[in-house]
Amino acid sequence: MARVGNSIIKGIEVDEVIRLLNKAYADEWLAYYQYYIEEKVVTGIMSKSAVTELAEHAADELRHADMIANRIMQLGGTPLLNPKEWFTHTNCGYEEPKDFDVVAILEDAIKGEQCAIKTYSSIVDLTRDKDIVTYDIVSQILADEVEHEEDLQALKDDITDFVEQVKKSIK
Ligand SMILES: [Fe+2]
Ligand SMILES: [Fe+2]
Repeated sequence: MARVGNSIIKGIEVDEVIRLLNKAYADEWLAYYQYYIEEKVVTGIMSKSAVTELAEHAADELRHADMIANRIMQLGGTPLLNPKEWFTHTNCGYEEPKDFDVVAILEDAIKGEQCAIKTYSSIVDLTRDKDIVTYDIVSQILADEVEHEEDLQALKDDITDFVEQVKKSIK
């Protein structure tokens, strides 16, 4: 544990920061797996573009899990050791893909990103001016989640516009 590093944390308990980070850590692993499996099963129109996007997001969520685990260790905590705990600690849950169509998959993924944005936004608020290092890490992650939502929404809009155009052209 970084003793002097931890001594600069003011106005929030280190244990509380670790608790919040472990919940986000659970979210990241579940988000990683959700993207990983969605990328495998997705079908339908323009699903190749979705595969590329989903694979990139999976890699980002795993990178986020790593950033959070490192910060938990630095604070003197222990990242969740058992995957069972992901389900008891998660903020955003896990959306099992039931409909493999690309639009349904993208809608599930957008929901997940919107929850991630809310979660990180609240950790940013709780750590601002109190734990600068955690604040910096969660701010970086928050920017990625905002970009994820935007990328997925743009792709979903492209696909639905394309489908509308095809429908019009065959009328
Ligand atoms: Fe993430
Ligand atoms: Fe994300």
